[in-house]
Amino acid sequence: MDIVVSGIRSTGNLHLGNYFGAVKNFVKLQHENRAFFFIADYHSLTTHPVPASLHSNVKQVLVEYLASGIDPEVATVYIQSDLPEIAELYLLLVMNAYNGELERCTSFKEKIKSQGENINAGLLTYPVLMAADIIIHKANKVPVGKDQEQHLEMTRTFARRFNRMYGVEYFPEPQAYNFGKSLVKIPGLDGSGKMGKSEGDGNAVFLNDTPESIQKKVMKAVTDSGPQEVNQKKPESIENLFAIMKVVSREDTYKHFDDLYNNREIRYGDFKKQLAEDIITFNAPIREKIKDLENDDAYLKKVVKQGAEKARESAAKTVSEVREIIGIRKF
Ligand code: TRP
Repeated sequence: MDIVVSGIRSTGNLHLGNYFGAVKNFVKLQHENRAFFFIADYHSLTTHPVPASLHSNVKQVLVEYLASGIDPEVATVYIQSDLPEIAELYLLLVMNAYNGELERCTSFKEKIKSQGENINAGLLTYPVLMAADIIIHKANKVPVGKDQEQHLEMTRTFARRFNRMYGVEYFPEPQAYNFGKSLVKIPGLDGSGKMGKSEGDGNAVFLNDTPESIQKKVMKAVTDSGPQEVNQKKPESIENLFAIMKVVSREDTYKHFDDLYNNREIRYGDFKKQLAEDIITFNAPIREKIKDLENDDAYLKKVVKQGAEKARESAAKTVSEVREIIGIRKF
């Protein structure tokens, strides 16, 4: 059985792209592996959030993952900052990380451009903290998107270096968790590429969007004047809506509109109305759970407490063994 660790950014609401691209797979993998899911609130300090928004973001992310089916009785769900062991392992690892390799990291170079007035040392050492998150549980699999591959590569470098420096075979070198065919990319409503909140208002459908807002966003989605030829290839700003329909609607609904398109009989108004309806139906139970959980602080408190206790067991064991290996020994 693999040990899987995944850190979740503590900013932003989940949209359908996150759900079908990642969260749904997390829900599945938690049953097949020993899974650790945590909310990476230490990492988010690199952008200097205000205290009130830090807490509410962590809560929102926790609520939405639980509502999506992450089961705290199956997986270990915790808040990163509830594990002081992570901060300690980070400190121990950062001594063996080199400025040069950290400065060369793509995500750091991008931050220099996007966040020029706040290039703090936390941004530079972000990959070390992420490595600590992963190897603290001696994980061998990490579900990561393309944008995190370099960080995972650096995690392997730090793990390998530790083993070599101290002549041990202690940390495994974690590999990317491969979702294979179940990895779906959900495009945005505006047809400009993937669904994301940074792509502009109305491009993403969030799990907690109201039915009215879903309706509005879908009806506003750009279409064209209709297919010019029978069986023609769909342009991107039509294909995106079909791609969303494929995951939220029934198969016969999809086929119905696909046939209409191919026969040049489609009416986009009807098509979008159906799509909106099906997204609303899909979202409804998750949105209901989000609302319930948001109002149940006692339950959330229980979940994170239990998660932190479970996670600290393996984290504390690792840190004490690492201290011993490094030579930090008791008198
Ligand atoms: N850097 C990841 C992201 O931006 C979040 C993250 C932090 C993470 N620690 C992790 C992911 C450990 C996987 C494993 O999405």
